[in-house]
Amino acid sequence: MISDEVIEDIKNRVDIAEVIGEYVHLTRKGDRYWGLSPFKTEKTPSFTVTPSRQMYYCFSTQKGGNVFSFIMEMEGMTFPEAVEYLGKKVGIQVQGDQQVDDRAYRERAALHELYDKVQKAFHFLLTSKDIGRHALEYIRNRGFSDEIIERFSLGYSHPEPFWLYDFLAKKGYSADFLAKSGLFSRKNPRWSLFSNRLMFPIQRHQGEAVAFGGRLLDGDGPKYINSPETGIYHKRSTLYGLHQAKDAIKKEGYFILCEGYLDVLAFSQSGIANAVAPLGTAFTADQARLLRRYAQKALLVFDGDAAGVAASRKTAIILETEGMSCDILALENAEDPADIMLKNGSQALKNLVESSFTALEFLLTKAVSMSDIKTPDGKDQVLEQLFPYIRSIQSAIKQEASLQIIAERIGVSSESIISSFRQ
Ligand code: CTP
Ligand code: MN
Repeated sequence: MISDEVIEDIKNRVDIAEVIGEYVHLTRKGDRYWGLSPFKTEKTPSFTVTPSRQMYYCFSTQKGGNVFSFIMEMEGMTFPEAVEYLGKKVGIQVQGDQQVDDRAYRERAALHELYDKVQKAFHFLLTSKDIGRHALEYIRNRGFSDEIIERFSLGYSHPEPFWLYDFLAKKGYSADFLAKSGLFSRKNPRWSLFSNRLMFPIQRHQGEAVAFGGRLLDGDGPKYINSPETGIYHKRSTLYGLHQAKDAIKKEGYFILCEGYLDVLAFSQSGIANAVAPLGTAFTADQARLLRRYAQKALLVFDGDAAGVAASRKTAIILETEGMSCDILALENAEDPADIMLKNGSQALKNLVESSFTALEFLLTKAVSMSDIKTPDGKDQVLEQLFPYIRSIQSAIKQEASLQIIAERIGVSSESIISSFRQ
């Protein structure tokens, strides 16, 4: 038997729109996709996929179900075969009706449970114990309410580095298991990676904690310590704040991509609930695909310095490659959203969000400001900077319209820009 947990896990991890998209050409409208029914010949789309409910429904044949029943129907597979087929897509091995790698699966489940306990313990230390008082003062002084502390399950790691190990050992966890948990030092297996830090649980989109980021409060040490990757934590396919943001992302039709933990919190505190952040690494295509389930448009909020501009260009290219688009907002004076909220208030942050540019406008303005577009070489430099972005655009129409805008701005004909682009 394949356990319900495994089936649930596979269902949660596959992107139903992506799976069905291999069979049906889907067009997004609101939070649903529409396409021509794969079950009968028709001219008007009556087939819908609703990713938020992980279901499909065909109005003309009244057939509906989840991703498993779809594959069974289309491929003539049995249920276990469909589970095996979809499991492969998301790296969960099942075969026949047996789960092959049962041990690894159980270990992942145990890690989930462990991280849940630790998240609760840290949260309790922050909100209910004298020992966490200064951490609570710290986050409050930065302008965050108790509601935000709850919403993001913030915590405090005990100042005594052996505390966590003893706490978990008492609950019956073995030394072997804890050594693989990503919570302790490799050199000293009882030494917690986190002590006396403000703790940000990193949660998967269903809300389970899979890792932590810990911010230094006082004393020496790195400003942030982040959990290593484990069987349940893969940085490249996780986004900080997605669990809290996903409903707002659907409602607003776009997500805000910012730099880190406190920025996500600052947006949320200011009533802007659709912000997420990558985890100490550059934005990835996996993260783009995860977000695409909720909205196809982004607002990038990056530092206005050269590194920030380079990062926004790379991110815009990743998004366009995945069929998404973005606006860009550059922050000046080395301030981040959390600084702006604390100094100028929530309204200032809201106003800022309203003042973004389209990616093309932003990248073009930056490129033009760095070259002398009166000279032929200057024009070429602008094109060199812009072409990788234009190339990532999936729609031929948007591509051509973008080239025309660039042509006008730097004063060349659309014919010559198009021919130079084709080269
Ligand atoms: N970051 C990290 N590891 C570090 C430094 C930064 O993972 N050593 C990530 C964190 O996600 C952090 C983000 O990069 O939130 C932005 O870093 P920074 O601006 O330095 O920190 P803030 O979160 O803005 O913290 P503060 O406002 O307290 O300086
Ligand atoms: Mn900051």
